[in-house]
Amino acid sequence: MKRDFVDLWDLTPEEVNLIIGKTLKVKRREEELGKPLAGKSIALIFTKPSTRTRVSFEVGIYQLGGNAMFFQERELQVSRGEDVKDTARTLSRYVDGVIVRNHSHMWLKELAKYSSVPVINALTERSHPCQILSDLFTLYESFGDEMKNLKIAYVGDGNNVCNTLMVGAGMTGLKLFVATPEGYEPSSYYYKKALEFAMDTGGEVEITNDPLEAVKDADIVYTDVWVSMGEEGKNLEVFKPFQVNEELLSKAKNGVKVMHCLPAKKGQEITEDVFEKNADFIFTQAENRLHTQKTLLAFLFRGLQA
Ligand code: CP
Ligand code: NVA
Repeated sequence: MKRDFVDLWDLTPEEVNLIIGKTLKVKRREEELGKPLAGKSIALIFTKPSTRTRVSFEVGIYQLGGNAMFFQERELQVSRGEDVKDTARTLSRYVDGVIVRNHSHMWLKELAKYSSVPVINALTERSHPCQILSDLFTLYESFGDEMKNLKIAYVGDGNNVCNTLMVGAGMTGLKLFVATPEGYEPSSYYYKKALEFAMDTGGEVEITNDPLEAVKDADIVYTDVWVSMGEEGKNLEVFKPFQVNEELLSKAKNGVKVMHCLPAKKGQEITEDVFEKNADFIFTQAENRLHTQKTLLAFLFRGLQA
């Protein structure tokens, strides 16, 4: 049966751990993934801009022996009203997989439902599972199993990245504190899912409107833009106390590491000096998109041995 990756929970927690562990071995060149995509074509359909996701997928598909085809949605008939289920059934007759970034999670779910080939979510307004799978790998690479003992704070907008980070924390047993302004909390649906997983893994996910509560003694502070793609025109005044700056970080543990999924809007969610101090970790986080997505593709298209 084909496997989709529309939300993080399309993998089991064991599969998430398998992918993370395998990615570390491949990144360290202890193992190879080979060419699981040899002879396969994967379509990328994006309605929103992308640097990391698009480029890392295209490079990763090439390195795994496959062929990547990139389309802006406006180039396809779906932009003129063709039914998503007809697009899904047509593409399934040509390509071996579809990777989608768009404004509608429901559209993506419908595409996955009617596709007979794997469909991967490259970001919707609700979730960004490729990002968080990769971020879990970044934490594992730096901290190993100790990652479960860290205090992780997410500070800023309760957006797609935040929703998925909560689920990732629940699935891998992390201790995550989310701080957002009132009215900008993450989705209660994703929060509930996170808590369900956390019951089995021993993870903790808490939501507060107080950035100091989240950041106090934190080992990791994660942030993302205040204005996600498609949310332009938002009032940013209420976000100001949530800026990741030296003063906020002075409440965290000594040696706190800062994560950002990028792109960053310096001067808003993060100051330039904090960004530059943490640039090495942040760009390792970006690099790891390539490593993790290659393992994900190998898993979805060929399966992985532990
Ligand atoms: N983090 C991320 O998904 O970056 P892009 O928008 O550049 O793909
Ligand atoms: N929350 C951001 C993430 C970008 C990778 C957005 O949706 O624009």
